[in-house]
Amino acid sequence: MEFASEKKREILSSIARNDGHGEHSPYFDGWKAYDRNPFHPTQNPDGVIQLGLAENQLSFDLIEEWIKNNPTASICTPAGVGKFKDVANFQDYHGLTKFRQAVAKFMGRVRRGKATFDPNRVVMSGGATGASETLIFCLADPGDAFLVPSPYYPAFDRDIRWRTGVRLIPVPCNSSNNFQVTLAQMESAYTKAIEANINVKGVILTNPSNPLGTTLSKETLTSLLSFTFKKNLHMVCDEIYSATVFNSPAFTSISEVMQETECNPDLVHIIYSLSKDLGLPGFRVGIIYSYNDQVVNCARKMSSFGLVSSQSQHLLASMLSDEVFVEKFLEESSRRLAKRHSRFVEGLKHEGIHCLEGNAGLFFWMDLHHLLKEPTHDAEMELWRVIIKDVKLNVSPGSSFHCMEPGFFRVCFANMDDHTVEVALKRIKELVSKGNGSGDAKKHGRKRNLSLNFTSRKCDESLMSPHQRMSPHSPVPQSPLVRART
Ligand SMILES: Cc1ncc(COP(=O)(O)O)c(C=O)c1O
Repeated sequence: MEFASEKKREILSSIARNDGHGEHSPYFDGWKAYDRNPFHPTQNPDGVIQLGLAENQLSFDLIEEWIKNNPTASICTPAGVGKFKDVANFQDYHGLTKFRQAVAKFMGRVRRGKATFDPNRVVMSGGATGASETLIFCLADPGDAFLVPSPYYPAFDRDIRWRTGVRLIPVPCNSSNNFQVTLAQMESAYTKAIEANINVKGVILTNPSNPLGTTLSKETLTSLLSFTFKKNLHMVCDEIYSATVFNSPAFTSISEVMQETECNPDLVHIIYSLSKDLGLPGFRVGIIYSYNDQVVNCARKMSSFGLVSSQSQHLLASMLSDEVFVEKFLEESSRRLAKRHSRFVEGLKHEGIHCLEGNAGLFFWMDLHHLLKEPTHDAEMELWRVIIKDVKLNVSPGSSFHCMEPGFFRVCFANMDDHTVEVALKRIKELVSKGNGSGDAKKHGRKRNLSLNFTSRKCDESLMSPHQRMSPHSPVPQSPLVRART
């Protein structure tokens, strides 16, 4: 008897058994398809082009140049090894004072001096991924909910919900006003949640938006901050793309708006990271900046689970304190982003493809609804499969961002070189010239005798960078899509 009940007991935790990571989504499937058959201009010119990775790789040369000119910034050079012992022994969860000071100053600079940041409120975490989760652990209990304008960053489902047990309620936005969230939409989502007996703890905004590539206006931020204040809700702003703004209107941070709007600072929190603005996702530098003392204290204690290594802190403290470099980098980075964005979007326009007018981010929101067989999410997935399998472009379908309107796709544009952009545009041209996506692309596939064989690598792994072998957050096992053959 006892033996039988023992057998029924689960060996693993519910977290280990559940699907909360969200890896079974087209967002991750697209990465896996790319990982199996990555495009290379000479070694694998028919491979999948990665347009699904929001990485800022356009200004690496500036960082590399700075590193060469500042050999003492690293503890692993003959010039810098004198600091090795001190830095390698450092493990205080407050972080290096000079690092927190430099980050606070950088955050102020990115916001054009319209807000200043207190280094004592800077809490470290492993990327914005860890920062978001830590913050939510401080703000909510399992079952509590946050309202999030959709479309939103798919990995929020992992970062914010998975281990905390917190719920996310999408606030559906639509193309009638370029997907900008309105107060009316927010109020309606809130009312419905309350009627359903859900304990709403706050609102989560991403500004600039991933996936839209647009910024929130000051008016919208003001009205939403007033809304959260009146309802006694937290306002969490993910501002990790703040320095990627490359066109007007300029970026407005919640830190600026709260100075002019009646609000409770204890309820306002910013998530920041150097993954996008500096293009350093591998450094895993995430920041929780909260105006609430208790949150700062608690998050700091929790940060022991995901500190930024002291070596990274040491290097970045020097780099971010170099004002001349920071000015040059920010200016040049946004100039290059603007140029690349314009080339890509104009190239698509030439093919009759419209994109949402964007001014920020490392991606744009492409409208392919006219290529759908019918206006449904199933048709969107059908078109997506054609794009990834036949056209060999990994773009991310709108449904993976919880977009309610079918036919939109996010295209990342800053993780490749100019040549790859031209190849991608040529492939899209072919897709369009073959007629409409899903239906005709099947013919298109047969005509080119396309046969997917994701299990064989066409490109010698040793020739690829580790990054090409596996995307940073990509889950290891093959998904059913990746195993598929057509
Ligand atoms: C809106 C948003 N938040 C958070 C993250 C995670 O960033 P990090 O690499 O710093 O963990 C991303 C990454 O794409 C993102 O787009």
